[in-house]
Amino acid sequence: MREPLGSHFRRLPRDFCRGLHSCNRAQRRDLKSARDTGKIAIAKGTRDAESAELDVSSRLATILVTGGAGYIGSHTLVELLAAGYDVVCIDNFSNSSPEALRRVERIASRPVRRVDGDIRDKRLLELAFAAAPIEAVIHFAALKAVGESVLRPLDYYDNNVGGTISLLHACRGAGVKRFVFSSSATVYGIPQKLPLTEDMPLSPVNPYGATKLVNEQLLRDLCVAEPAMSVVSLRYFNPIGAHASGLIGEDPRDIPNNLFPCLTQAAIGQRERLSVFGSDWSTRDGTGVRDYIHVVDLALGHVCALRHCAQSTGFTPINLGTGRGTSVLELIKAFEQASGQPVPYQIVERRAGDIAECYADAGLALRLLQWRATRDVKQMCADGWRWQQGNPSGYS
Ligand code: NAD
Ligand code: UD1
Repeated sequence: MREPLGSHFRRLPRDFCRGLHSCNRAQRRDLKSARDTGKIAIAKGTRDAESAELDVSSRLATILVTGGAGYIGSHTLVELLAAGYDVVCIDNFSNSSPEALRRVERIASRPVRRVDGDIRDKRLLELAFAAAPIEAVIHFAALKAVGESVLRPLDYYDNNVGGTISLLHACRGAGVKRFVFSSSATVYGIPQKLPLTEDMPLSPVNPYGATKLVNEQLLRDLCVAEPAMSVVSLRYFNPIGAHASGLIGEDPRDIPNNLFPCLTQAAIGQRERLSVFGSDWSTRDGTGVRDYIHVVDLALGHVCALRHCAQSTGFTPINLGTGRGTSVLELIKAFEQASGQPVPYQIVERRAGDIAECYADAGLALRLLQWRATRDVKQMCADGWRWQQGNPSGYS
C-alpha cells in the first residue's frame, strides 16, 4: 500500500515551480492539485531545497526517467545527478520502493522530483512533462521476469509496449526528441556467432524479449517518420553488483531467477545452496558463460548515451557489456574471493531455454559513446555483497 505522502515530503523547491511557467492554465491547475494531493512531490533529501537551488547555474538539462526507482534506474539517477542533470522520476513502484529514491538523494545530496504513477496514465505523463522543461527521456519502466512473461504475455505487451507508446505520445506533445531506451541482449535470442555485434539477427525466444524487439522496431520506425528524433537503444548484457555506498542495489520482490541474487542469497544463508544449471555446456568449465557488467558502469553508459543523443539523429542500437564472458563457476570463485564467504552450491539439470554462452562486442559503445566498462567481476561481487549484507531484506 502506498505510504501517506504528506508525512514524507516537503514543499517543492522554487526551481520546480519555475517549470510551471511553461504550462498552460489547465496544466498549472492540474499540477497544483497533483502537488496538493501528493501525486507529485520531491522526496526528502539530506539537503534542503533552498541550498540545492544554489547549484542551479551549474546544472545541465532536466531528464525524465521512467522506472527510476528500480535497480538500474536508481543507479542511473545517481550518475545523472552527479553529472549535473536535474531529474524527474516517474514510477508506479510495481517492482520497487520509494525508499530507493530517498537513498539516491542521500548519495547524490541532490533532490529527485517524483511523479508517482503509471506511464500508461496519459494525464499523469502530461503532468510529468509539464513539471519542468524536459530535455530527454530515459525509459526503464518495464516488467522484466522472463518466466512470468511466458505465463502473462498480455500483461507484458500491455505494460512494456503500451507504456512505451503512451510515453512516446507524451514526448511528441512536449516536443521531446531525445530518447534512451532500455533494451536487452535478449533481443538476439540464441547467438549464431560470438561476440554479439549490433547488426546480428534479432530473434528473441520469449514474450519479454519480444516486447523489447517490438519497442526497438517502433522506435526505428518513429525515427524514419520524424527525422529530428534521436534514439539510443541500449542492449544490456547481465547487470550485477551495486553502488559502492551499499545504499542502493537489486531488491527482487519475488524469488529471484537470475544468478547473482541467487548466489548472494546462498552466501548469506537465505537459501540452502545455489543450484548451478548444468556442467555439460560446451564452455571452458562446462557451466554457462555470460557477460556480467557492473550496474554503475551500465548507469554511466546512459549518461554517455544522452550526450550522444544531443549530437545525432536516428535510431542507434548499442550493446552495453564488457566484452568478456565469465562462467558460473568463475563467478562463484570471484565472489568467494571478494567476500571471504563460501558459496554452497550443487550442480543440477540445465534450465529450459538456457544458452551456453553469450557476450558482447562492446566496440560500438566505445566508438560512439566513448564508453567502456571499467569495473571487474571482483568489484561487482564486492559491491553486490556489501549491499546484500547491509540490506538483507532489501529496502523493506
Ligand atoms: P526493475 O524492475 O528494478 O525496474 C523497473 C522499474 O519500472 C520499477 O521501479 C517498476 O516499479 C517500474 N515500472 C514498471 N512498469 C511501470 C509502469 N507501467 N509505469 C511506471 N513504472 C513502472 O528492473 P531493472 O532491472 O532496473 O530494469 C530496468 C530496465 O532494464 C527494464 O526495462 C528491463 O527490461 C531492462 N533490462 C534489465 C536487465 C536486468 O538484468 N536487470 C537486463 C536487460 C534489460
Ligand atoms: C536471463 C534471461 C534473459 C535476461 C537476463 C538478464 C532467461 C532464460 N533469460 O538470462 O532474458 O535478459 O537474464 O536479466 O531467463 N544460473 C545458474 N543458477 C541460477 C541462475 C542462473 O546456474 O540459479 C546460470 C544460468 O544457467 C546462466 C547464468 O547463470 O548460465 C546466468 O543466468 P541469468 O542470471 O538467469 O541470466 P541469463 O541466462 O543471461
